[in-house]
Amino acid sequence: MKTLISKVKHMAIKTKNNGNCVQFLDHSLQDPMCQKIIQSMNSIDINKLGITGRDASSDSYHFQKNLNRVTIEGNEDYRLVLFFIKKGTVMPLHDHPNMSVYFKLLFGKLNYTQYDKVEEKFRYNKFSNDEYDEMLQTKKRIHAKKSVDKVIEGENLLLVRPSLGNLHKFVAEEDSCFFDICLPNYTADSERKITYFNDVTETPGCDAHSKGEKCDTILEYYTTPPVMPVGFDIAELEYQGELQEAQKMF
Ligand SMILES: [Fe+2]
Repeated sequence: MKTLISKVKHMAIKTKNNGNCVQFLDHSLQDPMCQKIIQSMNSIDINKLGITGRDASSDSYHFQKNLNRVTIEGNEDYRLVLFFIKKGTVMPLHDHPNMSVYFKLLFGKLNYTQYDKVEEKFRYNKFSNDEYDEMLQTKKRIHAKKSVDKVIEGENLLLVRPSLGNLHKFVAEEDSCFFDICLPNYTADSERKITYFNDVTETPGCDAHSKGEKCDTILEYYTTPPVMPVGFDIAELEYQGELQEAQKMF
């Protein structure tokens, strides 16, 4: 049986061969290899990932800061990471432009809010790097739709696609851990650059408000690395799973 990492690599090649295009990524769930990735994620044994407990007191290594990230493997075509997030911590609202993401909650409880950008230009980052920089500087405001606002707990798998649930934010209601596979990964280029947004729906002054139109959600372009959202402090940690076990699993 193919290991999870080889399935991800296989899918990354297939995605690249399709030009990382939105249509392929939106429909990639129908691909048997995607189904195999999901099956593998659903049968992961967390003990083999080097996780020693399900909270900060039983796994102090993985809960060193409020937000902790373990990169298992990654390049511009794919990325496998574990996030450990302490109770009360907010993962700020961010997008995954022109990407698919397999998001598996391994333990804990998260308040999960998901949005989609309305206009195609912003949904698919159809702008140049220069225009992007200007949008950040001017704190460009765009329309979005809130599609999910719920509490997720236990083992839960969520799928992000370029045209479905592409922005999200979560707040940890308990010490939590999730496994993220991005396919393809973020790039420095505006096409797949991560952006953090502020939800400014309640702030008067957006175009739609001034025209008297009804709007669901207004998001403001906020920041992108290396400038991180205020209060965002993440520990980058080494993978602690046994190599032999990881090879078997991945
Ligand atoms: Fe995300």
